[in-house]
This record gives sequence, C-alpha cells and structure tokens, in this order.
Amino acid sequence: MAQGSWYDADIDHVIISEEQIREKIAELAKQVAADHASVDDGLLLVGVLKGAVMFMADFARALGRYGPPIEIEFMALSSYGQGTTSSGVVRIRKDLDRDIAGRHIVVVEDIVDSGLTLNWLLRYLESREAASVEVVALFRKPDAIKVPVPVKYVGFDIPSEFVVGYGLDFGERYREVPYVGVLKPEVYARS
Ligand code: PRP
Repeated sequence: MAQGSWYDADIDHVIISEEQIREKIAELAKQVAADHASVDDGLLLVGVLKGAVMFMADFARALGRYGPPIEIEFMALSSYGQGTTSSGVVRIRKDLDRDIAGRHIVVVEDIVDSGLTLNWLLRYLESREAASVEVVALFRKPDAIKVPVPVKYVGFDIPSEFVVGYGLDFGERYREVPYVGVLKPEVYARS
C-alpha cells in the first residue's frame, strides 16, 4: 500500500490480515456448500446487523461459486447491555421479512463473544419452525463464552481482547477496516 488509510495510524497491531480473511471465507464456503449439496430449495442466509454485513457480502458470493442457490435476510437486534458487554436480553429492531417455516437456515455471524445473542437467535429461529438452523461465525472468542452455542463452522478463534475491523466497530467506527486489529490505547483515551 503506497499511502496508508486514516485508520492505519489508530491500529496497534493486526490480528488477522485481509488475505487470511479472504482465504478462510473461501474455505468456509466450500465446507458449507459440500454439506448442503442436496438441499433442494436452497439455503436461507440470516445475518445480524450491523457487524455481519461485510462477512455476509463476501461469504454469500463465495458460497455462490460452490453451493446451492441462496437467499439473504437480515435482522437487527439490540441487547440490553452497556458498552462492550451484552446482557442476553434481546429486543428485535428489525424482524425477518418472510416466513421461514421449513427452510434450511445458515446464520451468518461476524463474531461470537459471550454467545448470548446467538443463543437467543437460535431459539427464536427454531420457534419460527425452520427445518434446520446452523451457524457460521467468522470469529469466536472462546474465553468469553457465557452460554454454550452450537457453532458448526468457525473461521478464527481469537483472544478475548477488544478488536475492530471487518464489521467490528468501536463507537460505530472502524467497520470498514479490511483486516482485524487491536486499537492503540490512546484511541480509547481520546474518546
Ligand atoms: C456484536 C456481534 C454479534 C454480537 C456478539 O453485535 O455482531 O451479533 O455482538 O456478542 P455476544 O456473543 O456477546 O452476544 P453488536 O451488538 O455489537 O452490534 P453491531 O453488530 O451492530 O456492532
């Protein structure tokens, strides 16, 4: 890169590079495609706004190369919690736009942290009578898990430190960073 982007100066170190993310998504897409080769009516991908937007866009296109036809849905959820921790009490801010009864669903999550959001979402999707519900998560913080959640496909296990990039934000910023990194301490000090 000849000239740095504005955010490069705020990043202390990179945890996962752009290239690693690209390779991993292709790998995950091939696995999901191979496991669903015989699904007749296609897969319904469900993403949770906003963090999963980047992963959804890249994963859906990768899956399109190898897998069955797909449809995409988004939900917006808010959890009653403060700052960087969630409480597990979830409110739906945007629901699914269609009936999912009998559909094979793959939840596309950017990160599983405490697992509380996903735990709630899986129960919700099952209550709407999906035929099957599986999860692909690009990142997981295994040390932070509070409730066990069945995540069939995991991209990277990462340390329980605060990271930004590839959809993950700090105060709504840094989602567009194409890699995942740790912010410099002074970034927190000036916010
Ligand atoms: C993040 C992320 C997951 C959730 C994971 O969303 O996108 O949905 O937290 O955390 P958990 O495992 O502890 O429940 P966030 O609530 O930060 O919203 P955002 O995607 O809009 O940033």
